[in-house]
Amino acid sequence: MTAVGIDAIEIWTGKLKLDLPETFAPVKDEDPEKYTKGLGLYASSFPDAHEDIVTMGANAAYRLMDRKGLTPEDIGRIDVATESAFDNSKPVSTYIAGCLEQVYDGDFHHANKGERKFACIAGTQSLDDAYNWIKAGRNRGRSALVIATDTALYARGDPGEATQGAGAVAMLISEDPSLVELSTEQGYGSADETDFLKPNQQFPSVDGKRSMQVYLARMREALEDFESVAGDTHPDDFEYIPFHTPFPGMVRKAGLLGYRHMIRGTDVEDELAEEIGRQPREEEYDDREAYEEAILGYMDELKSTEQYQSWYSETIDPTLDISREVGNWYTGSVHIARASALRYASENDIDVTGKQLLVGSYGSGAQAEIHAETIQDSWEEEINDSTIDEQIRDRYDLSFEEYEQVHDRHNHDKRVELGDFTEPEDEFVFTGRGEMDERT
Ligand code: CAA
Repeated sequence: MTAVGIDAIEIWTGKLKLDLPETFAPVKDEDPEKYTKGLGLYASSFPDAHEDIVTMGANAAYRLMDRKGLTPEDIGRIDVATESAFDNSKPVSTYIAGCLEQVYDGDFHHANKGERKFACIAGTQSLDDAYNWIKAGRNRGRSALVIATDTALYARGDPGEATQGAGAVAMLISEDPSLVELSTEQGYGSADETDFLKPNQQFPSVDGKRSMQVYLARMREALEDFESVAGDTHPDDFEYIPFHTPFPGMVRKAGLLGYRHMIRGTDVEDELAEEIGRQPREEEYDDREAYEEAILGYMDELKSTEQYQSWYSETIDPTLDISREVGNWYTGSVHIARASALRYASENDIDVTGKQLLVGSYGSGAQAEIHAETIQDSWEEEINDSTIDEQIRDRYDLSFEEYEQVHDRHNHDKRVELGDFTEPEDEFVFTGRGEMDERT
């Protein structure tokens, strides 16, 4: 059977930066360590005045196509995943295709275009759609372009304000991929939830604490569902576990939950038994509350064991490097976590060819999906072509007053006059809604 998966990936960060410990914390009168140690974030990315979800997506896609020597003829499908769409009818993929057609001789008239929405998990759902399209043999030898692009903003003063971000991830889904092969097995955890929603409004209504519980509950269900088709998992099965990363502190919780689940009934639980006892089993308790309390106690002990800490630092922590510097990108977030881990492997000379990733995607509202991926032979050449480090370094560092102007402008407040903070260079720029975005 032909392997299908991610052949190439390009990341485009919004060009402005809000420094959380230096700029945000003093104005909010908060200890900077709340952000760096608690949430695990150092900075958020924001779009410059000449950027929006279309230009960020088009710039990532163009860079990917250019680097891979592709033309529109090679692409049979363009799917955009976003929770920041500005058009309830015309998908963002048509705007992005329009941008790309300005720089190619050919067009995308033959390509199927769409937009996927289910909060942050839509990026992974678009990958799944592309995978299924190719596996069904409907692609006529062509690849799919999946673009996850978002401007993740919260109302000022909302606790979510510290977790904002903006950027796009473009991925090429093909047969015989260079980066990772996607597995056929998936697990889901899905329920009607109202902890995070944006019914025709710019900023989300969020119950932040509840949203964290829902994330963990759906992720656990998805892991159990995945195991029902792929068999029991063991922590040593996976080189890295990229999770949806609204902020690294959330992934710290997801990592612990996953580890506890995976070690149940294994040699690891046996090894730890002397130090911290065995995991409480539900049948040992008369009521659910007492059982849950016992589990929390066990997890507290587990968290400080050497086994867990070294597993976490090798398997989860490498997925968080980019996120720490850019914040939450909603649909792109789990895909920058994967890229972050592979980049870490390359920088540290770790040969991960043939190794497995377990990818935990999540979207509020709410759904989690777990699937496995196999790292392919050419992963290192592919990941080393990324320019994300330079992009992160070159961002313009906003003062708090500038940040407030940028934030107001993105809330469509036309009274705010806002010029560019950075000079566009050979890229698509936003020239006003309704006008064509142009490559300068
Ligand atoms: N030093 C070290 N740590 C500190 C600290 C300090 N001085 N001060 C606080 N902390 C720790 C806290 O103990 C806490 O850690 P734990 O959760 O491990 O206890 C952490 O820093 C955050 O502190 P608070 O809980 O006090 O922070 P908060 O209430 O101001 O906001 C939040 C946290 C609710 C997550 C908020 O950022 C928020 O609403 N975010 C948006 C919603 C979100 O991202 N939810 C995640 C799940 S939903 C999802 O994933 C979808 C999505 O993309 C949105």
